[in-house]
Amino acid sequence: MKFTVAIDGPAASGKGTISKRIANFFKFSYLDTGMIYRVIGLKTLTGLEPLDAVAGLNENDFNLPNLRNEEVSKAASMVAKNPAVREALLEYQRHFSRREGGAVLDGRDIGTVICPAADIKFFVTASEEVRAKRRFKELSLRNNGIVFETVLADLKSRDQEDTDRATSPLRMSADAVLLDTTKLSIDASVETAIEVISSVYK
Ligand code: CDP
Repeated sequence: MKFTVAIDGPAASGKGTISKRIANFFKFSYLDTGMIYRVIGLKTLTGLEPLDAVAGLNENDFNLPNLRNEEVSKAASMVAKNPAVREALLEYQRHFSRREGGAVLDGRDIGTVICPAADIKFFVTASEEVRAKRRFKELSLRNNGIVFETVLADLKSRDQEDTDRATSPLRMSADAVLLDTTKLSIDASVETAIEVISSVYK
């Protein structure tokens, strides 16, 4: 059976954790689409043209080191503005969304552009302060020279780039369920999401 869950939201909103837990609970396949843009961003930092990076994508790329650092986050957001890059990635993502046994995809444009007919859509968000704290904690585990104010400023500017771009900007789809994780724990958000999906997925 095919069943598509689309999850979008700004940086460090908790969408990755929520998506993985949903996928695990329902035994759906999971695609973190942000990782695709991160791989392409990382490759452009080594001098590759974005479309050549897309053409050369392979599964091992998702194990490259440093994919989650801030320099790569910025590079990802830069390549993500490129309409030709987005177009080249469209069919792969749509194909994934139609996998037998269900699929969860998370990103910025899943509910609006990639899977507008998804069975369920969530928009996961939280205040900038809470999201920056989460990202600071995550980055501090790998690098103790990280400064909170820098993380907050980077997160704000990346959200602005993602929201203001012309192609597939970050938007909440009108038919998405809003999950605001500012005050709700990730556990409680996962529970809510599972309840919503269970009411439709039998
Ligand atoms: O983990 P975080 O929310 O910080 O970012 P991510 O989901 O890994 O995405 C990294 C960047 O890729 C975003 O800032 C977007 O610019 C871009 N992206 C996108 O444009 N469309 C998607 N479907 C997913 C990510």
